Amino acid sequence: MAEVETGSQLANLLEDLQKARLEAQQLSATLAEAWEELTLLYELAEQLRGVLDIDRAVELALLHAMDILSAEGCGIILKSEEGWKLCGVKCPTGREEWLCSSLAENLALEALGRKRGFIINDFFQHPQCGEMARLFGIFNIAAVPINPQGHAQGILIAWNQKHGGFKAGELKLLSTIATQTGGVIESSFLYQRLQETFRGTIRAMSVAIDAKSPWTAGHSGRVTRYAVEIAKTIGLNESEIEKVEISGLLHDIGKIGIPDLVLNKPDKLSDEEWQVMKQHPVIGYEILKDIWQFRGGILEGVLYHHERIDGKGYPFGLKGEEIPFMGRLLAVADGFDAMTSERPYRPGMPKEKALQILIEGAGTQWDKDFVKVFVESQKTLR
Ligand SMILES: [Fe+2]
Ligand SMILES: [Fe+2]
Repeated sequence: MAEVETGSQLANLLEDLQKARLEAQQLSATLAEAWEELTLLYELAEQLRGVLDIDRAVELALLHAMDILSAEGCGIILKSEEGWKLCGVKCPTGREEWLCSSLAENLALEALGRKRGFIINDFFQHPQCGEMARLFGIFNIAAVPINPQGHAQGILIAWNQKHGGFKAGELKLLSTIATQTGGVIESSFLYQRLQETFRGTIRAMSVAIDAKSPWTAGHSGRVTRYAVEIAKTIGLNESEIEKVEISGLLHDIGKIGIPDLVLNKPDKLSDEEWQVMKQHPVIGYEILKDIWQFRGGILEGVLYHHERIDGKGYPFGLKGEEIPFMGRLLAVADGFDAMTSERPYRPGMPKEKALQILIEGAGTQWDKDFVKVFVESQKTLR
């Protein structure tokens, strides 16, 4: 009898041991999965650090969402003034056009309204959306709101989970990705708005400069176009080209401080009047010097665009490479537009003649490399 009891105790013990082993294995698998998910989220947070670009943030979010979920695809749509806009998508099967439909918009509104994510695993049976879901072949979805209370609202959505539908844990992960990315999208959105306001102000300032004198209408815009042409040809990067653009638009801002009697005089200026006119680069510098975004290249274009390579320019009479890069570059664009524009006391010069004068003045009045690039670019335009 005792032997039977001992045998049964041993069998129970072995069974318990087997169960414990299985539990330990499951726990270990769960921990490994959680560790992997945490690592992915940590990587996303690391990669998002310092990102101030919506497209980049969207791309990173989608890459990580695809890594975590066994979904057919995932995408982000954001609300804009023109309506819902598809900002990014990952779908190797190419079936993503449904994100531009009212089906996706309805889901976005629902997620934003609820302020939290949700899963629909029997989408074909959905009372309102079922028909469209069948039409597009979307049989399950997980949707989470992005910035439900912010300016850049949207949703991160994944669809067609291949292994029996989305689970609560996956929704949680998707929500974490949406929260992490949402912060970057919100900052980028506000940054973009600030940039737009900044650019709008610059354009308004530029129009105000040109409006001060009927004889210089459109001058700042044309000088900017010529200068940007040179900047692109010599291979400056996007941010440097933007500086050239701003400097071109504002290079004559100092003319705001020149009396109308001098600025709009229909005849040639007297020596005294000319001395007043020559103050405009310094006045322009004084107007802009406290705006930190203009420090460096932009201010240099304003202050030095009337310097000459031979030192006979103004306001400082700098020579050659003493003249900062932006000043030398703008001088070519400014000189060409001044020659080809009409003045009250003379008609505008034909372009060919002005180009010839630039060539003759290369190395004395203007930087010879910039003249060469500009003349070439004007030849290809003709
Ligand atoms: Fe000027
Ligand atoms: Fe000018």
